[in-house]
Formats: sequence, C-alpha cells, structure tokens
Amino acid sequence: MTSQKASARAHTNIALIKYWGKKDQQLILPMNGSLSLTLDHFYTDTTVEFNSAFTEDTFYLNQKKLDAIKVSPFLDLVRQLNPQAGYAHVISKNHVPNAAGLASSASAFAALALAASTAAGLKLSRRDLSRLARRGSGSATRSIYGGFVEWLPGTSDQDSYAVPIDEKVDWDIEMLAIIIDRKQKKVSSREGMQRVVATSPFYPAWVKSTNTDLIAAVKAVKQHNLKLLGQLAESNALRMHALNLSARPPFSYFEPQSLVAMNIIEKLRSQGVCCYYTLDAGPNVKVICSTAESRQIISALSAAFAPEQIIEAFPGPGAKLIEC
Ligand code: DP6
Repeated sequence: MTSQKASARAHTNIALIKYWGKKDQQLILPMNGSLSLTLDHFYTDTTVEFNSAFTEDTFYLNQKKLDAIKVSPFLDLVRQLNPQAGYAHVISKNHVPNAAGLASSASAFAALALAASTAAGLKLSRRDLSRLARRGSGSATRSIYGGFVEWLPGTSDQDSYAVPIDEKVDWDIEMLAIIIDRKQKKVSSREGMQRVVATSPFYPAWVKSTNTDLIAAVKAVKQHNLKLLGQLAESNALRMHALNLSARPPFSYFEPQSLVAMNIIEKLRSQGVCCYYTLDAGPNVKVICSTAESRQIISALSAAFAPEQIIEAFPGPGAKLIEC
C-alpha cells in the first residue's frame, strides 16, 4: 500500500475587474481578463491523501461528509498528470466567519490544486498550479497568488493563467466585507454568467469595456492610486450586475440591504471619503478603502449594520503548503 499526503492553505480573492462569462465551459476559459485582490481574512485549509488502498474518493467539508461530485472530476485531472495516484480522501475546512456567504470556490480549488498535486508527487510551477486551479473554478486561478493578481484570459488551457501584479502590497488599501445574506445564491455564478453570455444583447459591450477597464486598473494598482482603482472597480461591478438585469430571464443578486450599503458608501464619498463598493454573485457588499479612513466608514455603516456584519480584511498571501 502506498500513501501520500499534503495540506495546503489558499485565501479567497475579490475581483475588482470581473470575470463574468466563459468562452469554453469545459476548460473554463474566460471571455475577458480580470483583476483581483487576495484577502487575508478568508481562507480554506485542505488535506489530500492518495492511498492505493482507498476504494473511492471521499470529501469532508467542515467535518461533514459531502458528495465528492465536484472534487472527483478535479482529482481526475491530477490523476491524468500522475496515473499512479489512486483514490483520495479530501478534508477541507473553510475559515470564513460564520459561513459568511463569501465566495469560497476560489480558495477551495486553489487549496485543492496545491494539496492534491503535491500529494500526487507533482511539483507544479505556480503557473501550472494556476492553470490547474482554473479547471475547478475560474476565480480559483487567481488565488494561487497573493495581493493584486491578473488573470490572463488566453485562448487555450496552456495560456489561461494568473500572474501577480503586486504580491506584497505595501500601500494603504483594505476591504470591508458587509455580510447581508448567508444563504445559498439563487442563481450560481456558473449558471448566471452562462445565461448572460447566451441572452444579454449588451454582452459584447461588456467584454469591450472590461478589457479597457482592466488596462486602466492594472495601471492604477502600479501607481497605488486607490481613487482610480475604486472608481473602475465600482463601475465594472455595476456593469456586471446590469448584464444580469438584461438577461432573459433576468436575475439580480441585489437585496434591499445591498442598496442600503451602497447608498451609505456613495454618501460618504460625497463628503470626501475615498471609498467604493463592489458585489459578486451575491448580495454582500465589499468596500474598497484605506485603513486611514476605515474607522470612519465602519462608523457610518454601523447605523444600518450590526458589528458582526462588518468584517475588515487586508491583502493576503498566495497558496502555500502547511502542516496539518
Ligand atoms: C462574480 O469562479 O465562481 O465572483 O468558473 O463557473 O466556477 P466558475 O465561476 P466563479 O465566478 C466568479 C464570478 C465573480 C467574478 C470574479 O471572481 O471575477
């Protein structure tokens, strides 16, 4: 009997310029490039053990046995790289405060890519890890790296991967996550983006304008220009959500409380505070701001949200192996 085991930690990331549509469903190739910030506060720890004595893949998340329906096809990709690797046991723990309803597929598949490839005896480069993580969930391709990360869309499995833009962020930027709903999404990101690509008449304009936004946003990161980056991120997020309203049938991730948070941020901005919001495939609002002004923003948000609904997060590191 041969057994090999490895554990890895990966942090989640929040897109400032969004990925919202695939040109290849199976390989998960995006229609456009995207830019994200990896966060320190939310992460997944995953242990993978390949053992020739195992008779099936098993998957435990937060100590609960779940169907390995998403994990098994991903492990198959690792087994293609090392056909000697047999079935695996996968144990994951999500470190997201109280199941905060924040995207966990990014940290989940980035941690799984690193733990599974290492346990299978493969020593993948970060580029190849990013390509592998992408096959689990598009946003996971970016969680291999820390700080600001760009996903180059590419045209094939070979050239669609993430690159670090500013890995050790040494300027004043953070995010406040406002937790509005902890329930499962009504429309998954996978389904939502597919519907938009298939039915929104505005989709070609989204791709064109996002490509332009991305170039400007990468420049803003390099110049440490929080205001410009925030403006681009907020406008890009609103365009993504506008696509959802323009799909058939239409859908929206906004809840009344999302609009309350957005209004507070807009009002603070009119008073001279540098803060911008973004939303992903759910109602939670993330605020891009500086630590210098975060107390003032938290205090304004406290008028509408309980302290446990507001979580402060800072730039976080890339995926790494850990002892478990
Ligand atoms: C709105 O990566 O969850 O968060 O590739 O189908 O697994 P799949 O989708 P996923 O989509 C993330 C969408 C987003 C924007 C982003 O992270 O860029």
